[in-house]
Amino acid sequence: MSDAQQPDPHDDHASLIRTPKQLIVVVVASFVLPVIIIILLVNFVAFGGKKGAGSDGMSEEAVARRLQPVGTVELRDVSTPAAARTGEQVYQAQCAACHATGAANAPKLGDAAAWAPRVATGFEALLASVLNGKGAMPKQSGGDTTDHELARAVVYVANQGGAKFAEPAAPAAAASAAASAPK
Ligand code: HEC
Repeated sequence: MSDAQQPDPHDDHASLIRTPKQLIVVVVASFVLPVIIIILLVNFVAFGGKKGAGSDGMSEEAVARRLQPVGTVELRDVSTPAAARTGEQVYQAQCAACHATGAANAPKLGDAAAWAPRVATGFEALLASVLNGKGAMPKQSGGDTTDHELARAVVYVANQGGAKFAEPAAPAAAASAAASAPK
């Protein structure tokens, strides 16, 4: 009976799993493999870092930025002259809009004729005009510009217009100078 040697054709179609051992292997693999794949995917997306996932969205800095409350308060040490902006910097940021062009009849930077009568009123008077506003110039104090920085800006624009005002002393320097002054 040569047919007996032939494998039963029905067995081929029945199943690839023929032994209990194979069954266990397949069952375990069908649970474990998806879990491993999910873990790998999560790792790739979340911790892929700059090189891996092509995004630094999960970098510590990016996360911290997203967690920030709306708006931040920047603390500047106004008592150290290094932290204060120079008169020219303040001028560029806050005054040039009018004083570079002469908009609203503002005396132009460097126009000695326009500045001479104003400079003659003295630094304190000019500073008061800037702090409180004058004519078409709104008051420049407030915001994140300190009065000391505004004073430096006044010295800058006035000196460009021919004045010879000295750089105003920083608040802390002025205070310590007063404290150490001979009595
Ligand atoms: C919105 C336009 C505008 C801006 C911004 C502005 N100014 Fe003026 N400024 C004027 C005008 C206009 C005058 C003339 C006011 C007058 O005499 O009626 C003036 C006058 C002055 C004077 C002369 C004041 C006086 O007593 O005669 C000084 C000093 C001065 N500005 C400094 C500054 C400084 C420093 C800044 C920036 C911190 C600044 N200005 C920003 C328009 C401006």
